[in-house]
Amino acid sequence: MSFDNLLLERDGAVAVLAINRPKVLNALNTQTIRELREAVLELAHDASVRAVIVTGVGEKSFVAGADINELTALRAIEGQEYARRGQNVLDAIEGMGKPVIAAVNGYALGGGCELAMACTLRVAADSATFGQPEIDLGLIPGYGGTQRLTRLVGKGVALDLLLTGRRITAAEALRIGLVNRVVPSVDLMRESKQWAETLAAKAPIAVRCILESVHHGTLLPHAEGQRIEAALFGLATSTDDRREGTTAFLEKRKAQFTGQ
Ligand code: CAA
Repeated sequence: MSFDNLLLERDGAVAVLAINRPKVLNALNTQTIRELREAVLELAHDASVRAVIVTGVGEKSFVAGADINELTALRAIEGQEYARRGQNVLDAIEGMGKPVIAAVNGYALGGGCELAMACTLRVAADSATFGQPEIDLGLIPGYGGTQRLTRLVGKGVALDLLLTGRRITAAEALRIGLVNRVVPSVDLMRESKQWAETLAAKAPIAVRCILESVHHGTLLPHAEGQRIEAALFGLATSTDDRREGTTAFLEKRKAQFTGQ
């Protein structure tokens, strides 16, 4: 599958998906959102892909937000549909059933910060910048930012960032829990690939179960979350990979998971 605004490469079990509009700092226009949806569906259904890295082309920007040129003419209903289309794609990334690492190589603003937050984990270059500046456009985040930012960093910090629109450094993003790791810019892709390969070698069904349990569980009351966890634990116990993992432990060897 070929795209105008995305680059998609596979390296063993790891796929690297890069937003490719560097002239506009990888701003997400309608076509890019459409291509992102197609790429995410393809990667979700490709069993040979066990982990995905999302990044931006160029040294300056991960994604500098939704394409502001497209926002100028939107009326209320169109704006609502515009937001829903982007939200659906980011939900699909979150629900891909395999780990998705955002390798944040520069500006992650507005829809870019929202894209990073929809990923499972985030590694930032030390030069990266985060923020939800929509307030300065007379707007609010429309790709899930008010929801995911609040869950990731808590209500107080989220409201500060959402209401001021201020930009924060990678170091502050790490301190508030918006990113998992910060690395020197030159090491970003190497570190992200290493992390992705570690995750790609785990038992895929157990990985999917953890992702589902955490994702759905955090949206539910404790007892219901635990019910989901128990059901998924039951599912994981029935897999060949569970047999292999427990047997390998007892035989003091490294497990070889097959995804069955
Ligand atoms: N949409 C469209 N074009 C954008 C863009 C965006 N989000 N961000 C940058 N660009 C374009 C600029 O217009 C410029 O194009 P020209 O060369 O044709 O003038 C080019 O990218 C380079 O940008 P700058 O010259 O502005 O670069 P800079 O280094 O001076 O500043 C920046 C970089 C701070 C990221 C600045 O470009 C900026 O503030 N961008 C907008 C960030 C923003 O507000 N994002 C939120 C968008 S709304 C949103 O995302 C809603 C949502 O939740 C879905």
